[in-house]
Amino acid sequence: MDLDQLIKKVAEEIKEKKEVVAFTGAGISVESGIPAFRGSQGLWEKYDPEQYAHILTFLNEPAKVWKMLKEMFSIALKAKPNIAHIVLAEMEKKHYLKAVITQNVDGLHQEAGNQKVIELHGNGRFLVCISCYSKFLFVEEYLNIEPYPVCEICKGPLKPDVVFFGESLPEKALSSAYELAESCKIFLIIGTSGLVYPAAQIPYYAKSKGATVVEINLGGTPYTYKITDYFLKGKAGEILAKLSDYLF
Ligand code: APR
Repeated sequence: MDLDQLIKKVAEEIKEKKEVVAFTGAGISVESGIPAFRGSQGLWEKYDPEQYAHILTFLNEPAKVWKMLKEMFSIALKAKPNIAHIVLAEMEKKHYLKAVITQNVDGLHQEAGNQKVIELHGNGRFLVCISCYSKFLFVEEYLNIEPYPVCEICKGPLKPDVVFFGESLPEKALSSAYELAESCKIFLIIGTSGLVYPAAQIPYYAKSKGATVVEINLGGTPYTYKITDYFLKGKAGEILAKLSDYLF
């Protein structure tokens, strides 16, 4: 089957089975202008994540980490949902999609209109004080504060409310993600390299519980040859736009 026939077949399965859960990574937001982490234009090509995205580096040298954060969030805070996010919101409205489990911290699924979004790595739309835990909306003005923004209450360093390497994932989000992976009929993996655990384990669990696995990506990943039933090779926005033509 060619790509178009595969997309049509996936749409038929979705219409028949419904109970879709989407699992998204940075690739779904690339068409919103946010670079992915890995691959030729990836953020980690410029900043070693083990240094710049590790909680210990943040605690010892917040100014160093904020250099990377300012570059990342000066784009992310301005980004808008693209067609891929919008189609997932439409799929939820039409009761095909139960939830989105996302590794992304850009908040674009909620902005597109999805109600049930499980954020495994937190949400970069908020800043949290690492001393008194006060929370603030991450507005662009914070990007201009040198060397980095501090809490207006206790003057502690502010950190985006996201999971850094070396930190554990929010327990509630992880357990909700496993419950959804267990109960869904179709597990739709979109734009993730499947390399970062424990999030990366969830698609394998969905497969082990009998879900049909659909993967949308520019190229193969560790999932593709192990658990993927339908591999839709291409840009998330283009593939999901075609899928929506067959669905709605
Ligand atoms: N459409 C579909 N897929 C795309 C597109 C696109 N337009 N552009 C890139 N991709 C794919 C790439 O081929 C790659 O497989 O998206 C994936 C992006 O992989 P990563 O950059 O590793 O992002 P992700 O998988 O989300 O990373 C997981 O790693 O650094 C941590 O916490 C960070 O949440 C992140 C986690």
